[in-house]
Formats: sequence, structure tokens, C-alpha cells
Amino acid sequence: MKPVKVGLCGLGTVGSGTFNILRDNAEEITRRVGRSIVVEQIGARRDNPACDTTDINITRDIFDVVKNPEIDIVVELIGGTSVARELVLNAIENGKHVVTANKALIAEYGNEIFEKAHAKGVMVAFEAAVAGGIPIIKTIREGLSSNRIEWLAGIINGTGNFIMTEMSDKGRAFDDVLAEAQELGYAEADPTFDVEGIDAAHKLTILASIAYGIPLQFEKTYTEGISRITAEDVSFARELGYSVKHLGIARRTKAGVELRVHPTLISQKALLANVNGVMNAVMVKGDAVGPTLTYGAGAGAMPTGSSVVADIIDVARTFTADPTNRVPHLAFQSDQLSNETV
Ligand code: HSE
Repeated sequence: MKPVKVGLCGLGTVGSGTFNILRDNAEEITRRVGRSIVVEQIGARRDNPACDTTDINITRDIFDVVKNPEIDIVVELIGGTSVARELVLNAIENGKHVVTANKALIAEYGNEIFEKAHAKGVMVAFEAAVAGGIPIIKTIREGLSSNRIEWLAGIINGTGNFIMTEMSDKGRAFDDVLAEAQELGYAEADPTFDVEGIDAAHKLTILASIAYGIPLQFEKTYTEGISRITAEDVSFARELGYSVKHLGIARRTKAGVELRVHPTLISQKALLANVNGVMNAVMVKGDAVGPTLTYGAGAGAMPTGSSVVADIIDVARTFTADPTNRVPHLAFQSDQLSNETV
């Protein structure tokens, strides 16, 4: 059977994880999809020594990828919002399905992107945009779709949690741990996004849109980061039986859905207080299921690549399946939205 052809845009940390998973697990993936998934072309400014790309068509102009008529799925892993937005909109315009790990892009331009994708009849999947390797989008959208979501609360920035944990457990200085998070490929290109809560606010915006069927309203999220937390704060909290954790919280109020991101004192006995290092965890309380918890690595090449490849598989399975059996992969359709965010 004809393979599904992927165009990979960006070969940085997440791009390398994605490329290597597609290659290493090719046999398993082919069995699951019923046909092979091949990387047809890579658009990247430079090679990545972590990837053996000798037999791959590489272009330095990522827009070649969206123009390539062979490609079925464009995978956007370049980050940022200006070129990435243009790339994704061009891909959609050219009838390509899109997989992205770009939370800033989805949180800030998702409404426009989903509208265009819906009009063109293509899929946009973005599991890797939130909480790295944890399948939290699919958990909320599919696993918990029978519930009225009462609240969700999570540690959704791996870099921030890594910094807080190292400060708390080893007394390390903020800047020193941040530099290590950058070396490990956890931090954003601009780490201000991690330490000032912007990255977590992007992710919370996306989770809330799915959980509550509301538009993406990043600008309405209260956002506070961890940059003002000191080693003394963490140590005083600990003496009192608390951990300081940076949480993203969404909950229903009488006025609408409240979205906030800020450092929070949590009893050391609570599950979330024991989520350490780069790990993320999201609790979701549904009216029928009660509280649920998903946990896993929130950043890094392989965990985030795991979610990107899962989306590629999901999209490939859907568009190669019987058309009567298709599952929509958009976060929402605009005619189905409520507008309730406070
Ligand atoms: N900078 C992000 C984090 C990467 O640390 O969580 C994963 O989204």
C-alpha cells in the first residue's frame, strides 16, 4: 500500500525525537496504521547530529515542504509564531494535514487555524503542545468527553518544575538550574516563556478550550511565573509542610471559566506536590468520573516526540481510513463554541 508521507519542518530537540521515533519504531507503526509512514522531506536550517538523515531529501527552505505535492502531513516543529503561522496556514491552504507541537501558535492563532482547516477539510493535531509526552489532549477530548469538567489543575511546564525541584531538594541557584534546563533541551528558545508563566498560560489556554468548549483566549489568562520565588520561600514552605508548585488552573465559576497560572502552596501529602523534576501532571475533575491524574515527562526530545508521532499516526489512520469512519481532530468548530471565560 502507498506509504503516508510526512514533511518535517524543524530538526531541533523535538524534531530529532520525532525523526528517531519514526525510524526506530517504523515496524510497529506500520502494523498499527496498516501502511508505512515515511519522512519524505525535512525542512531545517541545519542538520542535527542526533539524526542520521543521509538518505533524506533536506531543504533549507521550509516552505518547499508545504509546496511538495508528495507530502500528506506537514509536521511543524520550528516554534515561534510568525513563520510558523505562515507555514501552517500555507500547508492547510495546500490541503495538507498538520501536526504541531507549537503551544504559542495554537493558543494565540488556533481560532484562525482551526477555521481554515475546517473549511479545507484537513486535520490539525497538537497533542505535543501540552505537557510533552502526556496524552492530555486526547485524555480530555476523548477519554473524558462524557463528563462535565468541573476543574483542572496541573504542573504543565517542565523547565519551571525542574528549577523548583532542584532549588528545593538541592538548594541550587535559580540561574544555574535554568542553564542546565537549557542544555537538556527543556527550555523554550526564549526561557522567559518558561520562568514567567507564559508557556504554561499557552498550554492552559489550549486545555481549557477543549475541556470547556470555549475559544482560545490566551489574553484572558492570569499569568504569573516563578522568577520571584526564592530559595527561602521554598524552604519556609517546606518547614510548614508545603511544596511550592507552579500550577495552571481552570475552573468553572458562576461568571464563566477562570484561567490562572501562578506559584501555589500545596500540602506535601498531595499528589501534585510529589511531581518533581521535568515531570508534568494534570488533574482533571469530571462530574461523572471524579478526579483523574495523568503524569509523565513534560519536555525533552523523546517524550515530546512521542506525542508528535502519536498525532502523525492518528492523522494517518484517520485520513487513510474509510471516510465514513473519520474522527475530527480539530479542537473545536467555531459554530459550536461557548464564549464563557472570565
Ligand atoms: N519549555 C517547555 C517546558 C517545553 O519546559 O515545559 C515543553 O512544552
